[in-house]
Amino acid sequence: MGVLDGKVAIVTGAGRGIGRGIALGLARAGADVVVNYRHSATGAEEVVAQAVAEGRRAIAVQADVSNAVDRARLIDAAIHELGGLDILVNNSGITIPRPFLEVDEELWDRTHSINLKGMFFLAQAAACYMVEHGIRGRIINLSSVQGGFAVPQHAHYAATKGGIDSMTRVMALELAPYGITVNAVAPGVVEVERYWDSPGYSPERFGPTIPIGRVGKPEDVAGLVVYLCSDAADWMTGQVIYLDGGTTAQLAWNPPPDVSPPRTE
Ligand SMILES: NC(=O)c1ccc[n+]([C@@H]2O[C@H](COP(=O)([O-])OP(=O)(O)OC[C@H]3O[C@@H](n4cnc5c(N)ncnc54)[C@H](OP(=O)(O)O)[C@@H]3O)[C@@H](O)[C@H]2O)c1
Repeated sequence: MGVLDGKVAIVTGAGRGIGRGIALGLARAGADVVVNYRHSATGAEEVVAQAVAEGRRAIAVQADVSNAVDRARLIDAAIHELGGLDILVNNSGITIPRPFLEVDEELWDRTHSINLKGMFFLAQAAACYMVEHGIRGRIINLSSVQGGFAVPQHAHYAATKGGIDSMTRVMALELAPYGITVNAVAPGVVEVERYWDSPGYSPERFGPTIPIGRVGKPEDVAGLVVYLCSDAADWMTGQVIYLDGGTTAQLAWNPPPDVSPPRTE
């Protein structure tokens, strides 16, 4: 028995990276899964094969979340091919670092159309179906520590993540009367394929910069998402949950090591 037996989930951007880990985590917990991808067809088919091997129903659906026709097709695939929709994990996102002084409108619009507009309207379409059919569903939006904290060269990206945090809270309030929960998961550094080509990146270098001593894995995110989708999380909604090995718990500023913190007594 899995905690998500009988549920149908859509995970966007599930052919690689965190989305792949989430789709596999949901399948292991019992959910049937729509594995969305845009370019990663091979990865999506591998996820489908692994989910089927777990005994689940799974389909890969190509769709661009920034496109309205594609979003409607994605929702329809869950309803007509897997019989319903209980869970939407809005995971797809692009991260293209660029100095603030060099961000142009094309990059701003592209980042917003995928990260923010795509999530907003996919959540709306999923929620419409859930409300209409009396489904106490779950919507999880992938945010980032950058929704609340600054990292240079990410102003346009951070704007989308701050927007996700804000819209998650409003969606949660408006959907609470229907028993639908909406939460944002805000990861810190989670090693995915794209990190491997990033100049200067290695888990050995990055791990010690994180209080818990290692970078995150897609499985870490999947564990939290499975919990949020389960009955155990029925009372949790409207939250932005930082999942970052302690990164945002620390004050970045530290006094010189030979200075003792001032005392009051
Ligand atoms: N990894 C981290 O350290 C980290 C930290 C904080 C937040 N996040 C967030 O977590 C989410 C996943 O990140 P990730 O690191 O796994 O990213 P990733 O490895 O770069 O993967 C991005 C995913 O988004 C999909 N995607 C991009 N544009 C799309 C579009 N127009 N339509 C549909 N899908 C699209 C990609 O699909 P295709 O490959 O099929 O094109 C891919 O599956 C993102 O929202 C990201 O902002 C990640």
